[in-house]
Amino acid sequence: MEEKKKILYSGMQATNALTIGNYLGALKNWVTLNEEYECFFGVMDLHSLTVRQNPTEFRQNARKLYALYVAAGLDPKKNCVYYQSHVPAHAQLSWILNCFTYMGELNRMTQFKDKSAKHADNINAGLFTYPVLMAADILLYQTDVVPVGKDQMQHLEITRDIAMRFNNIYGDVFKIPEAYIGKSGARIMSLQDPTKKMSKSDENVNATILLTDDTDTIIRKFKRAVTDSDTQVRYDVENKPGVSNLMDIYSSITGKSSDEIEAEFDGKGYGDFKLAVGETVAKELAPIQLEYERLLKDKEYINGCIKENDEKAAYFANKTLRKAMKKVGLTEMIR
Ligand code: TYM
Repeated sequence: MEEKKKILYSGMQATNALTIGNYLGALKNWVTLNEEYECFFGVMDLHSLTVRQNPTEFRQNARKLYALYVAAGLDPKKNCVYYQSHVPAHAQLSWILNCFTYMGELNRMTQFKDKSAKHADNINAGLFTYPVLMAADILLYQTDVVPVGKDQMQHLEITRDIAMRFNNIYGDVFKIPEAYIGKSGARIMSLQDPTKKMSKSDENVNATILLTDDTDTIIRKFKRAVTDSDTQVRYDVENKPGVSNLMDIYSSITGKSSDEIEAEFDGKGYGDFKLAVGETVAKELAPIQLEYERLLKDKEYINGCIKENDEKAAYFANKTLRKAMKKVGLTEMIR
C-alpha cells in the first residue's frame, strides 16, 4: 500500500506585488517540496484585511496571487490552492483559539509591534489577533510542515504553543506542526538598506525586486544595490551585509555555496557580480512572468480550480473544526 503523504500548509497575504523575498523565502520552496507532500496553499485574504484595503484592488491582488502561485509551478490539480476567506472554518476555529491564547503572548509578537508602529492610526484588534488566525489556518489541516521565511518563525512558535495547550486539555485534536526554513533565502534584505528585511510595503522602489519586474528593471535595481567600499565578494553578514545579501539571493537560485560564489568572482569587482545576480534573477523570473500573464487571461480555468479547491479545503478543514467544537462542548448541529 502507498504510504500516506505528510501534510504541508502555507500561504501569503494578498496585498500588492510580491518580492523576491516572498519567492526565495517561501514560494520557491513550496514548488520544490510539493511532490513530496500533500499540499495546501492559501491566498490569505482575511489576514490582508488587518490593513485597510481598496476593495477593487484587493480583489485583483488576490486573483493575481492565485495566478502567481500557479505560474510559479504549483499545479492546482495536484495542490489544493484556495482562498482562505472561502472556507469559513478558518474564522470559526480562529474564534475558538482566541479563547485559548493569552494577551501577554500576543503582546510579544514583533510583527504586531512593527505593524502597529507603521499603521499607528489603525491599530485594530485583527492586527493583534493575526497570529491566532494563522494558527487556525495551519491547525485545521493537521499540518506536518509549514515552509515560511524566518520572519514567520515567531508565529509558528505561538501556533505550536496554542495547539499543545489545547491538546493538553482535550486530547490529540491538532497535529503539532514544524516550520521549514530554507538553507538560503530565508531572510532576503532590502537592496537599499541591507540591515532591513526586503518588504513589499517599502516606499523606496529600488529596495525591492518585484516578481513582476522586467529584466531591465531587475538589472538596474541590482546595479544600484547598496554594498560597501571594499571590492571583494565575500560572505560576511556583519561587515558586508549588502554583498552577503546578494550572495544569498544568487545562492538560492543557482544552488552554489558561498565558497563557490567567492571563487567565481575572485578578482572581479562588484560590477560584474551585481550584473550576474541581476541576470540570474531575471532569467529565473521570466518564464514565471510569461505563464502568469497567460493565466490571468484564462479566467475559466482559474475559476474552475478555485471552486474545486475551495471545496476540497473546506472538506478537510471542517473535519478538524467539528472535532474541536465537539471537544470544547459546543452543541452539534442537528442535520
Ligand atoms: P507574508 O505574506 O508576509 O509573506 C509570505 C511569505 O514570504 C516570506 N517572506 C520572506 N522570506 C524571506 N525574505 C524576505 N524578505 C521575506 N518577506 C516575506 C514570509 O516569511 C512568508 O513565508 N502571516 C503570513 C501569511 C500566512 C501564513 C498562514 C503562512 C497566513 N496564514 C499560515 C503560513 C501558514 C505572512 O504574512 O506572510
